[in-house]
Amino acid sequence: MTYKVAYIIGSLSSNSINRKLVGAMIADAPADLEFVEADFSKLPLYSPDYDADYPQIATDFKKILEDADAVLIATPEYDRSIPGGLKNAIDWFGRPWGSNPIGGKPVYVVGASMGSVGAAIGQIATRQTLEFFNPLLMTQPEVYMKMSHEDIGEDGRFIDAATQGFVKSAIEAFADYIRKHA
Ligand SMILES: Cc1cc2nc3c(=O)[nH]c(=O)nc-3n(C[C@H](O)[C@H](O)[C@H](O)COP(=O)(O)O)c2cc1C
Repeated sequence: MTYKVAYIIGSLSSNSINRKLVGAMIADAPADLEFVEADFSKLPLYSPDYDADYPQIATDFKKILEDADAVLIATPEYDRSIPGGLKNAIDWFGRPWGSNPIGGKPVYVVGASMGSVGAAIGQIATRQTLEFFNPLLMTQPEVYMKMSHEDIGEDGRFIDAATQGFVKSAIEAFADYIRKHA
């Protein structure tokens, strides 16, 4: 059996270290996981005015999450909290009222920052808002990654073997969690 994992990159940067972190995880992910991006970059800022005339782009974004067995979110921390673009995307999850594309699904939040806090506070803020949707949040192992672009090699993996081994064990743990709960 194959499991579909939708992943969300919490950064809008075209050169995102969080995208590279996910790339390194996918590079060594178990073969029964299939990955598809749920890209929120074109979503407008949510307003209740959209509920009556729901934009196709938001329907398409949520469909990727609805069709997935599990969701992986990699986010930076902005000003010690969740980046605004990611929070806006999560606001779209729950509207119109009653919509919930992640309820009961395995969800794993990881992240990277350039600072030594490793996006930990941003991840905690992200988990806090996700709790509203009652997902099955996997909270271990914590991936609070302090990283820079130079940490990733041409093959998309961490150059440091121990670090690549750690992210590999993290995605394997998520695969186990999905197999048990999806
Ligand atoms: C608006 C803004 C706020 C930031 N706030 C934090 C912060 O609170 N903690 C931190 O460790 N890094 C912070 N950073 C630095 C990010 O860790 C760094 O830009 C990182 O590359 C972001 O991840 P990305 O490359 O995936 O976009 C901030 C960056 C920006 C642009």
